[in-house]
Amino acid sequence: MSATTEQMAPPKGISAVGLRKSYGDKLVLDGVDLEVRPGTVFALLGPNGAGKTTVVQILSTLIAADGGQAFVSGQPLEDADAVRAQIGVTGQFAAVDGLLTAEENLLLMADLHHLDRREGRRRAAELLSQFDLAGDATKRASTFSGGMRRKLDLAMTLVGRPSLIFLDEPTTGLDPRSRRTLWHLIRELAKQGVTIFLTTQYLEEADQLADRIAVLDGGRIVAEGTAEELKRLVPGGHIRLQFADAHSLDAATAQLGLSTAVRDDENLSLQIPSDGSIPTLRSVLDLLERSRVHAQALTVHTPDLDDVFLALTGNGAAHHTAASTVKESLR
Ligand SMILES: Nc1ncnc2c1ncn2[C@@H]1O[C@H](COP(=O)(O)OP(=O)(O)O)[C@@H](O)[C@H]1O
Ligand SMILES: [Mg+2]
Repeated sequence: MSATTEQMAPPKGISAVGLRKSYGDKLVLDGVDLEVRPGTVFALLGPNGAGKTTVVQILSTLIAADGGQAFVSGQPLEDADAVRAQIGVTGQFAAVDGLLTAEENLLLMADLHHLDRREGRRRAAELLSQFDLAGDATKRASTFSGGMRRKLDLAMTLVGRPSLIFLDEPTTGLDPRSRRTLWHLIRELAKQGVTIFLTTQYLEEADQLADRIAVLDGGRIVAEGTAEELKRLVPGGHIRLQFADAHSLDAATAQLGLSTAVRDDENLSLQIPSDGSIPTLRSVLDLLERSRVHAQALTVHTPDLDDVFLALTGNGAAHHTAASTVKESLR
């Protein structure tokens, strides 16, 4: 392991198809497909119990899937040793040993990665300084705050210089300040080219960190895309047309139909529900042009991620239909 982990491995992402997992009668993952490009930050977003940790456990070879296939960092999951040589995993429950000091925890990891003593000390010192823990290096981890423990845990994950890391709910339970510190550290890692797969229940976290977000619910990925793409897909998004006078507003309302458009007489504007995509915009503009109605201004309003999350992970019959529509329109 030492030879491969010491040199920076070529960055490779994750590609998973049809992952399935049940515990007894309980179906946890019902065919999960994922694609994470190397060098990017990917967020798996889902409510408690959605199966996020199960996905991380499968992709990091800690448990076996009942079905499906995946390549992690260019290696098939079946070749668990090869996968493990490339990755680092930070669990929801920190691997930090409270009886050891921060430095001892790191040196233990260095040992596990077969770094020689000098190299181990050098790496530990480097990480302690990078994570702003140098001043606490000789304190027992049991005296650390939650935020410091999480930082130490992340530092321990990085001892072996993995090209890809899994962060399972890295900031759950942390205060806002510690959360921001961790976000900063995660962004720094991403800048260094480390591929990051993180799970989170927090929309803001996914929005802040991730290049792409997948929403896991009911054992399936119900939506996938950039934060912007996801925001465009839920009800609440609309196009707002502004008119110079009541005459134009009347004409536009007649053309676009009041069944869908919401008219605001006071502001001489018309709101049309829309995903904000270019084809939709074009069709609205075409219709106005054909009927020679002049709009003064057009603005596109996108809902925020909270709207997305609620629309996609809500319980109820409508939800699976909504989810499949979303998936289709993202393709
Ligand atoms: N070892 C296990 N045995 C039985 N059920 C499990 C086990 N691990 C997870 N589960 C169940 O699988 C579902 C998904 O769990 P998990 O992956 O931990 O979700 P999340 O990380 O999104 O909160 C939950 O209903 C959980 O109770
Ligand atoms: Mg979990």
